[in-house]
Amino acid sequence: MLDGDGHKLRLTTLERLSEPEEVVRWIDAQAGENAVAGIDAPIVITNATGMRTADRLAHALYGKFHAGAYPASRARSFWRRTTKLSADLVKLGFRHGDELAPKSRGRYQIEVHPHAASVQLFGLDRIVKYKKGTLAARATELRAFRKLLLDHLPRLIPRVEIDSLPEIPSSGGKALKAIEDQLDALLCAYIAAHWWYWGLERNDVLGNSKTGYIVVPRRRTREQKLADVREQYSHVALQEADLDPDPVAQFEKWFAEARSAGITEADAMTLATVAPDGQPSARMLRLKEATADGFVFYTNYRSRKGRELAANPKAALVFYWPELHRQVRVTGRVLKASRADSEAYFGTRPHGAQLSAWASWQSSPVADREILEARVRKLEAKYDGASIPAPPGWGGYRLIPDSIEFWQGRPNRLHDRLQYSRAGDRWRIERLSP
Ligand SMILES: Cc1cc2nc3c(=O)[nH]c(=O)nc-3n(C[C@H](O)[C@H](O)[C@H](O)COP(=O)(O)O)c2cc1C
Repeated sequence: MLDGDGHKLRLTTLERLSEPEEVVRWIDAQAGENAVAGIDAPIVITNATGMRTADRLAHALYGKFHAGAYPASRARSFWRRTTKLSADLVKLGFRHGDELAPKSRGRYQIEVHPHAASVQLFGLDRIVKYKKGTLAARATELRAFRKLLLDHLPRLIPRVEIDSLPEIPSSGGKALKAIEDQLDALLCAYIAAHWWYWGLERNDVLGNSKTGYIVVPRRRTREQKLADVREQYSHVALQEADLDPDPVAQFEKWFAEARSAGITEADAMTLATVAPDGQPSARMLRLKEATADGFVFYTNYRSRKGRELAANPKAALVFYWPELHRQVRVTGRVLKASRADSEAYFGTRPHGAQLSAWASWQSSPVADREILEARVRKLEAKYDGASIPAPPGWGGYRLIPDSIEFWQGRPNRLHDRLQYSRAGDRWRIERLSP
């Protein structure tokens, strides 16, 4: 079942039929009035002038990935069979896909070149070459292709939940070919659905139905990727059974997911501290490390937060990853990181940031910006390319957690909240009301 924006599309189960007539009869019987057939289009070159327009365009676009074109002949049975299939589908009322408007009703056929499609859809920098080479090499590539389908299709829009795909055997050319065909067919069907759903917004049509056309997805922009991630995570729940018994391991899992979702500042977090008079204050910081030893950040020890932590070494952290509908809250006590760790981290900072750490007396009033810039110029001259040591009043802190809450946004504000609290040397997990 394909699903996107409330539209449900039925992906019909693949069957192996040998005769083209059988395939056409099967499609006619399976397809209702509204159906989209994805046709695995061969790209065929006989010579430069004998190429279809679409093939020439596909070659220009994907030649660099070796996905563009094969020096094959129009006499090949695959080419003859697909063109015949396309003509037979026209007789059954399947219009060509270059006439298809997004989400329109009717019977359509879409020509897809699976290799080109996989490059674009999965953001690859090379084609997965499962058609050529030794059996072992083909099996390795096919395994990679299978993983791409399993990893990506449930995350894209439209989404396809794939329950299972056959494992790739390590021997047997025939068995390999059957799986290749099955995976190609799945991708062709998916691209057909993608074209039906998005139209030109996220796909390119190369050529036209008279001189030959091929549909390929466009490379997704960051915004499209985030929109897909947002859609995917709107269905996600957080259940007790999903949690790692160790909250730091659970945090690492969520943090890795936030990064791989493409969230730019997944490491940004709010740190709240409390002054001796009870006044809380909060600011954004960057997480540098999260391990069993705590959540590490670096700052100026004489800053407001530094002074507040010296008087009251208790603090709270909040992470928010909006595209994932997720929040993590951490509370605990704070220790200074070791001098060696602080110096080691300082050494990895860019030169300009190292100078600023010396130039800025963080949180103290400064009359104007020029004073800061003059200090930087002076420091630049002083160090003149030499390595810059960590300032004595600058370094890391470790927040050792005593509670960590994982919050997953759910529909109608009935969110999931699971909180770990330290209970001796173990962690207790409780569900909190949203
Ligand atoms: C996304 C983001 C990340 C930041 N990361 C740090 C950081 O890692 N260390 C730091 O000292 N200040 C960082 N800052 C600046 C702090 O928010 C804050 O202005 C500064 O630490 C002074 O805070 P204080 O006066 O409360 O001590 C960051 C600001 C933003 C917006």
